[in-house]
Amino acid sequence: MAAMELKLVQDWTDYNKSILCSNQYYIENGSQIYQQEHPYPIPNALTNSLAHAASLMEILKANLANYPADHKITILDIGSGQGLFAKNILVAARELEILDRIHITVSDLSKQALEDIQNNKVLKEFDGHYDFLELDALNLPTSLGQFSMISMNYVYDALAMLPLKRNADASFEKMQVRLQEALDQVPSPYPLQQMIMERRWQNYDIKAASDLEQKYFKYLDGTEEQLFNYEAIDMTKNLSKLLDDQGFIFVAEMLEARSADLCFDLYGNCCAHETNELLIIRAMEAQGMEALLAKDSQLMRIFFFKNPKTKSRLKSVLYQEFNETTRTDKLLESIQYPTQ
Ligand SMILES: C[S@@+](CC[C@H](N)C(=O)[O-])C[C@H]1O[C@@H](n2cnc3c(N)ncnc32)[C@H](O)[C@@H]1O
Repeated sequence: MAAMELKLVQDWTDYNKSILCSNQYYIENGSQIYQQEHPYPIPNALTNSLAHAASLMEILKANLANYPADHKITILDIGSGQGLFAKNILVAARELEILDRIHITVSDLSKQALEDIQNNKVLKEFDGHYDFLELDALNLPTSLGQFSMISMNYVYDALAMLPLKRNADASFEKMQVRLQEALDQVPSPYPLQQMIMERRWQNYDIKAASDLEQKYFKYLDGTEEQLFNYEAIDMTKNLSKLLDDQGFIFVAEMLEARSADLCFDLYGNCCAHETNELLIIRAMEAQGMEALLAKDSQLMRIFFFKNPKTKSRLKSVLYQEFNETTRTDKLLESIQYPTQ
C-alpha cells in the first residue's frame, strides 16, 4: 500500500506556542460551539448544571453574613461562553431569595459569545442583575472595581500551558509538536480534527522562555511529569487582586491530567488542555490565599479565598456542599436539573 502523502501544517513548535493553544475558535464562533447539534460540541452539561451553581450559591449566601446588609454582591464570571453558568447562578440566587443582593458581570474574550448571549436572550428574565464585559482576563484593565466572587468555569483548560518532564538531574524537557495533514484532505472547518500530531521532548531552557514562564517556574516541583499552567496561575493571581476582603474565586475544571503525553481533549477546532491543580494551588498559597480542592468522579472544583478567615467562617457550608455530598448525589442532581 502506498504511504500517505503528508502536508506540513506546523513544523516542530513548543506545545504552548502551537496552534493547539490558539483561542481563535472561541473568539470567532460564540455560542454555537456548545450546542448539542454541533458536530463536535464542547461539553457543558455537567459544569453548567444548576446543581453545581446551587451549591456555589449556598456558599455565597452563607458569606453574606460577612458583609453589611446593604452591600451589593458583585460577581465576575470569566469566560462565560454561552452564558449558562451565569444564568444558573442567577436562577440559584432567585431560589435562595438573594437575587436582590446580586449583580453579575458576564465576561468573555469573545465579543461574539457575548453578543450571542444577548441575542439568544439567555439572561433576559434577569434584566437589571447583569452586565456584559468583553474581557481578556490575561490582560486586565486597571479600572474593573471589586468583586465578592469570581467564577472560572472551564476556563483554565482554554489557556496555554506547557507539558514538561523532569530529569533525574532536575533539568526539564518540554513537549514540542509537529502537525501534518494528508495532502488530499478535503478542507474542513475543524482542521485540528484531521491533523496528524507527533510529539517530541526537547531541553527546556527557562532563560529563553517567556516572562510568565520565568515568573512561575519556581512553583514546579519534583514530579516527573507535570503540566506547566503558567497562564492559569497568572490569571488567577491577577484576578485575586480584584476580590474584596471576604471574596473568593471559584474554579471548576476537568479532572486532573492523565499524563503529559495525553494532555488535552479535542472539541471541534479547540483543545481543552488539562490542569495541574496542585501547581496552581501552590502558587496561590504563596500569595497568601487559602485554597480548598474538591473532586468527584466528574469534575474538580477549587476555591481560593482572599482571607483565610473567610474559609474558616464558611467551614460548615463548605463541608456540607463539598465534602459531605457524594459523587452520586452530584450526578443525580445534574440529571434532575438538566441544562437547557
Ligand atoms: C471551555 S469554554 C467555557 C465556557 C463556559 N464558562 C462554560 O463553562 O461552558 C472557555 C471560555 O473561556 C474563554 N476564554 C479563553 N481565554 C480567555 C481569556 N484570556 N480571557 C477571558 N476569557 C477567555 C473562551 O472564549 C471561552 O468562552
